[in-house]
Amino acid sequence: MLRVCIIGMGPIGNRHARMYQENDQVQLVGVCDRIPERADAAAKALGVPAFGEASRMLAELKPDLCSVATGGYEYGSDHYEPTLQALEAGAHVLCEKPICNEIPKAEAMVRLAREKKTVSGRQSEPPLYAGRCAR
Ligand SMILES: NC(=O)c1ccc[n+]([C@@H]2O[C@H](COP(=O)([O-])OP(=O)(O)OC[C@H]3O[C@@H](n4cnc5c(N)ncnc54)[C@H](O)[C@@H]3O)[C@@H](O)[C@H]2O)c1
Repeated sequence: MLRVCIIGMGPIGNRHARMYQENDQVQLVGVCDRIPERADAAAKALGVPAFGEASRMLAELKPDLCSVATGGYEYGSDHYEPTLQALEAGAHVLCEKPICNEIPKAEAMVRLAREKKTVSGRQSEPPLYAGRCAR
């Protein structure tokens, strides 16, 4: 059973959450958004703890896998920091598309995933991805 967290609880983070909860190979254990109302609403609906800081969630819950469903400018500028945080915490990462707006940062994300021997993907099918990790 993979323990999974999600950073970024907009429409897409909530979609990941629903898909994880339908997958018997994974257990959603926590959600994070820097907008407290978003974190709290998702946590209440999903029955998991809410966090405002990704670093605290990763340290407390130590997930096997973390979805990064943040957005930002052109829906890609907010992926870099939480992806690095999750990889540094030892989690596999499913980072939403586009991976990053800046190529050097995107390359650093992939490089760290390789160094950590984790799998970093930008799939849009969490159950499929989690299933691969579980095998
Ligand atoms: N795979 C697909 O088919 C598909 C479809 C649509 C969108 N997307 C992608 O999904 C991502 C999310 O889209 P959305 O519409 O839900 O975006 P959104 O902007 O509505 O939500 C992102 C959330 O992330 C939070 N956030 C940002 N940085 C954070 C951080 N460091 N820590 C905690 N929370 C943080 C924001 O507060 C916000 O609530 C985007 O990258 C988008 O391109 C993918």
